[in-house]
Amino acid sequence: MARLFDPLQLGALELPNRIVMAPLTRARAGRDAVPTAIMAGYYAQRASAGLIISEATGISREGLGWPNAPGLWNDAQVESWKGVTAAVHEAGGRIVAQLWHMGRLVHPDLGGGQPLSSSATLAPDYAHTYEGKKPYVKAREATYEDIRRILGDYARAARHAIDAGFDGVQIHGANGYLVDQFLRDGVNFRDDLYGGSINARLRFMTEVIEAAAAEIGMDRVGIRFSPNILVQGVEDSDPPVLYAAVARRLEELRVPWIELREAHRPTLAGAIPTAPVSPEMREHYSGKIVLNSDYDGPSARARLAEGIADAISIGRPFISNPDLVRRICKGAPLSAGDPATFYSGGAEGYIDYPPLEEAEAA
Ligand SMILES: Cc1cc2nc3c(=O)[nH]c(=O)nc-3n(C[C@H](O)[C@H](O)[C@H](O)COP(=O)(O)O)c2cc1C
Repeated sequence: MARLFDPLQLGALELPNRIVMAPLTRARAGRDAVPTAIMAGYYAQRASAGLIISEATGISREGLGWPNAPGLWNDAQVESWKGVTAAVHEAGGRIVAQLWHMGRLVHPDLGGGQPLSSSATLAPDYAHTYEGKKPYVKAREATYEDIRRILGDYARAARHAIDAGFDGVQIHGANGYLVDQFLRDGVNFRDDLYGGSINARLRFMTEVIEAAAAEIGMDRVGIRFSPNILVQGVEDSDPPVLYAAVARRLEELRVPWIELREAHRPTLAGAIPTAPVSPEMREHYSGKIVLNSDYDGPSARARLAEGIADAISIGRPFISNPDLVRRICKGAPLSAGDPATFYSGGAEGYIDYPPLEEAEAA
C-alpha cells in the first residue's frame, strides 16, 4: 500500500513524495505573457512538493485568454521561465509546464480574433479581459488546417518547456478548455474525423499527446482531465464510457501519468458531480494516477490507501501554505488563503504566506 511519503516514478520523473502541487493560475506574468521575477520566488517556496504542476501556460497568443497568464510560444518567455525552473531545481524541486489552449474561452481582446473550438458554440458566462469581464464571443468550428497549426503550437510549446528547464509537460485536458471541448459530447457536434463517435472525439487529444511526445519523449508527458463535472459549459453525456475509452487510449500511447480533478462536492458555480470515473480508468490504465480536489493530509492518506491513486494533488492549500508538505508530515494546521488575491497581480497573497515557524511565532 502506497503512503504519502513514499517516492514515486512518473515516467522520467522521480518524485520524493506523493504530494503534487496542482496547477494554479495566479496571473502574475506580464501582458506579453512573459513570467516575472516573483514567479521564481513563489514556485521555489513550494519546491518541497513531490512535483509542481505549473499554472496553465499558453501555447500561442490565440490560445491564451487569461489576463497576465504566462506563455511558452516565444524566446522571451522561454528565457524568463529559465529563472523559475532554476529556482525550483535549486530548492530541490521538480516542475512540469501545464500546456494550455483555451479554445472558445479566449476573448478576441486577448486572442486577437474569433475564438475556435471543436464546433461553433458559445460559452456561458463571461470572459476575462484586461477591461474586466465581457460576454464570450461565439467560436467558429476549427478547420483541419487550424488543427494542424495548433498541433504545431503544442509541439513548439513542449520543446520550449524543455528548453526553459521544465522537467516535462502536462497537457491541460480539463476544465472546459480546447482538448476538453473536443473530448466531451456536450460541445463537440462534429461529424468528421474529430467528432461523432467516441473514437473521433479522442483524436484531437491523441494527436496533441503525440505532438508533444515527438518533441520531448513520452516519458515527460502527462495529461489532466475533469471527467465527472460540468466546467465552463462542458460536460459529457456518459463519463464512465468516455473515460474508459480515454484510459485505453492512454494505455496504448503509454502515457506515464494522468491527473484527474475528480470532484466529490458541488463546485462554487453550482455544478453537481457525477460518479467518479477513476475506478473505471484504473481498470484500463496501468500508468500512474494522480487524484485531485478537496484533499488535505488525512484525506490524501486515506485516498492513497484505497489503492486507486498513486499520488494526490493539492491546489488551494498550496497557495497559503508554501511548506504544505512539511505541515502534512507534522500534522500541523493549515493557514487559510485569501481568494481576493488568488488572481490579483502583485506580491501580496502570493509570496508572503509564511512557513510554519514564522506563522507560529507571529
Ligand atoms: C486560483 C485557482 C487557479 C487554478 N488554476 C488552474 C489551472 O491553471 N489549471 C488547472 O488545470 N486547474 C486550475 N485550477 C483548479 C485546481 O488545480 C484544482 O483542481 C482545484 O482547486 C481543486 O483542488 P483543491 O481542492 O486541492 O484546490 C485552479 C484553481 C484555483 C482555485
